[in-house]
Amino acid sequence: MICNMKTIIKEAANSNYIVPGFNVFGYEDAIAVVRAAEELNKPSLLMINKLAADYMPIEYWGKLLRAIAEDAKVPISVHLDHCKNFDLIIRAIKSGFSSVMYDGSQLPIEENIKRTKEITKVAKVFDVSVEGEIGSVPYADIPGHAKDLLTKVDDAVRFTTETNVDWVAVAVGQVHRLQHTKSEINFDILKEIQNNISKPIVIHGGSGIKETDLIKMTKYKVGKINVGTSLRMAFGEELKHQVIKNPEEFDRIKLFSEPSKAVIEVTKKMFNILDSNN
Ligand code: 13P
Repeated sequence: MICNMKTIIKEAANSNYIVPGFNVFGYEDAIAVVRAAEELNKPSLLMINKLAADYMPIEYWGKLLRAIAEDAKVPISVHLDHCKNFDLIIRAIKSGFSSVMYDGSQLPIEENIKRTKEITKVAKVFDVSVEGEIGSVPYADIPGHAKDLLTKVDDAVRFTTETNVDWVAVAVGQVHRLQHTKSEINFDILKEIQNNISKPIVIHGGSGIKETDLIKMTKYKVGKINVGTSLRMAFGEELKHQVIKNPEEFDRIKLFSEPSKAVIEVTKKMFNILDSNN
């Protein structure tokens, strides 16, 4: 069932589990995430990033992912990740996305607050949830992208109070798109942020965070964690393997079968790590 995750992520922040949102790039990984979620009876988010939105019009993503989410046996949100473009966010909302992220993290805080507020005002009318970002999580493959590597607690308080976002992404040492788990998480800052704000926290860069740190985060007011690279790697590595193993095969539906299973396995593993009740 389609869901904007407002209540579920709030509950997760106050419980011993975290809802994972997964970046997907096509039908195969989207349906794999939903199958894993159904098998474990967990809610999740199918997230589209800039690369995916550049690859296929957002309206097509909305129709495809919304149909998958509506048929799912568990709550699924169709989410636009890291968007800096007001018009694209409006198109996503019109196309059936149930949550969106406005990323003003590289702007001065006043401008970030002003633009995030414009998005929350529109999104609320359509019952779409909004994620904002304060501080910024760098990218392993884009050197020098980020402004403030760690979120300042005062900024997080001001941002969440003034913007009315549903969830806030913070920077506490994570790095996007790491292929190995080598982020050093600053739990002192995470604790200080959670003790001073009333909104669920979102952690980006899930692929690069050590399993022990992910488990530790379930005890904090983290409601959502974003995971992308580890799924892309699982699909891509298995696809390369299949192509080498079956040099005569040209049917992509056959070639995609094992990579899709690899995505289900990685996704299930992440759901299990993020539930300390297990
Ligand atoms: P990773 O690709 O590092 O898992 O990060 C995903 C993410 O944070 C998307 O917003």
